[in-house]
Amino acid sequence: MHEPRGRMTKDGIRIYEDADFAGMHAAGRMAAQILDEVAQLVTPGTTTAAIDDFIRGRVQELGAVSATIGYRGYRHASCISVNHVVCHGIPSPKLLNDGDILNIDVTVILDGWFGDTSRMYVAGTLGRKAERLIEVTHEALMLGIAAVKPGNTFGDIGAAIQAHVETNRMSVVRDFCGHGLGRVFHAPPNVLHYGRPGTGPVLEEGMFFTIEPMVNLGRPETKVLADDWTAVTRDRSLSAQFEHSVGVTATGCEIFTLSPADRFHPTWG
Ligand code: MF3
Ligand code: CO
Ligand code: CO
Repeated sequence: MHEPRGRMTKDGIRIYEDADFAGMHAAGRMAAQILDEVAQLVTPGTTTAAIDDFIRGRVQELGAVSATIGYRGYRHASCISVNHVVCHGIPSPKLLNDGDILNIDVTVILDGWFGDTSRMYVAGTLGRKAERLIEVTHEALMLGIAAVKPGNTFGDIGAAIQAHVETNRMSVVRDFCGHGLGRVFHAPPNVLHYGRPGTGPVLEEGMFFTIEPMVNLGRPETKVLADDWTAVTRDRSLSAQFEHSVGVTATGCEIFTLSPADRFHPTWG
């Protein structure tokens, strides 16, 4: 094994080198491509287990490894979180119903680099409230990404997300956050999706991390079910999430997990 290149900040955040962006782009693009392909499978009458089987097969065919299989005892190639499930939904043989909204989260390891992304899908007809929730959550992610540049802080990212969500009378989940990644799945810092401008670690060129806001139509509180994974809204309100992996550049950031088919949002393409 070679020593990792680059250095570490005082907050324990790794600074990667210019050459490392290429590996992250390849891994991120692959995860995003698989999410593009999955879109055609999401219909009423299919199961999230069938979707996960497809994802597992594609990760293998494309020459990558699933980061989630075997991670802390998790056994699936994706997390699929339906309706009031906030995150870490376990693929299951239960049928999807018309109007269900779901987040599918895939992380691949390609040549040692981690690509982590998730997005929302709709089975059949999209309801009005669900549509608003998905719209606001997507906008919140993109506003968070717009705050990524050297000199800004992680608090600026969280504040941008929180302001947009709360202006729209929805709530930001506090119990889960984004994370540093690169040659590892989860590394410092915790990327909070709420906060105050100017607080938290300062962003530097070469930091790689995810932004993955979870937004609820009702209250922010969550609980984890007896399976030790599935996180749900305590008030059973609908929840949505989008996730990108990004790398800080001299002037802003690059998104590693852009959709090759431009299908990141369920009403696109
Ligand atoms: N992909 C998730 C994230 O965004 C983590 C899933 S871990 C699993 O960080 F074990 F639940 F799959
Ligand atoms: Co993540
Ligand atoms: Co993820």
